[in-house]
Amino acid sequence: MKAQDALRRAVPLLRDAGIEDGARDARVLLAHALGIGHDRLTLKLQDEMTEPQAALYDAALVARIARQPVAQITGRRLFWGLSFRVTRDVLDPRPETETLVVEALKVPFLKVLDLGTGTGCILLSCLKGMPMARGLGTDISDAALQVAVGNTRDLGLEARARFRKSDWFGQVTGAFDLIVSNPPYIAAEEMPALAPEVRDWEPHLALTPGGDGLDAYRTIARGAGARLLPGGRLLVEIGPTQGQAVAALFEAEGFAAIRILPDMDGRDRVVAAVKPGAADRCGCA
Ligand SMILES: C[S@@+](CC[C@H](N)C(=O)[O-])C[C@H]1O[C@@H](n2cnc3c(N)ncnc32)[C@H](O)[C@@H]1O
Repeated sequence: MKAQDALRRAVPLLRDAGIEDGARDARVLLAHALGIGHDRLTLKLQDEMTEPQAALYDAALVARIARQPVAQITGRRLFWGLSFRVTRDVLDPRPETETLVVEALKVPFLKVLDLGTGTGCILLSCLKGMPMARGLGTDISDAALQVAVGNTRDLGLEARARFRKSDWFGQVTGAFDLIVSNPPYIAAEEMPALAPEVRDWEPHLALTPGGDGLDAYRTIARGAGARLLPGGRLLVEIGPTQGQAVAALFEAEGFAAIRILPDMDGRDRVVAAVKPGAADRCGCA
């Protein structure tokens, strides 16, 4: 079968499965089956597919019809212009998380701690953008840490990034001038309404801490002061309705210069705070 015919056949199948942009997904999955970048797909549409290519494409479509996320099927996701390996053990990096990386890179830092690192996308993007810096990524999931280590190798950052299994600050020692985190923040009552791609395929541990969704922020707010240098920054991703609640948690723990920052769509996405002290590393305390 020609690649073009395989593509045509897939679109209605994905639409009938309730997938919104089935045409785009079909193209990405076809490029994956052909082993090419999807920007080159048009050039290959008249080619006959080999049997292994057709089998790989069929398997990818079956997975997508079962609502498995595209990044889990192809195994890759582009974040901050870098290619990250993605498996069922990690959150698929979201474009809105780049808001946190943008903010992190506005001020120089030398030692960064990323709590709940998942693929390592935040830590490794921050290190790519700050060539003098070193970092520690932590996660409670061994499987996630393995993915992060693989991504570190792929990106050539082994000399500057380390990883450790830790329940938030439990196994973290030393002092940092930047702490970043995109913790699980979906409230328990919001979980049933999530898209099947998220609810049924991404790790529960990466999505929700249960309850009102704020427990990880409570732990981070309580522990960050002891691990930050004076003037050090704390940056966390939040859900769009959580800004005021998280800002209040940081204020109660004595943090200063608390700001709620929007993402590219104008929705609240990051809370930034500074540990007061002698060195004001961002000029904003
Ligand atoms: C929302 S995901 C973020 C992953 C990645 N940083 C990103 O932005 O794509 C949250 C991560 O926190 C980790 N996590 C959950 N509970 C944790 C805990 N108690 N201590 C450390 N990490 C935890 C999860 O395994 C998951 O990798």
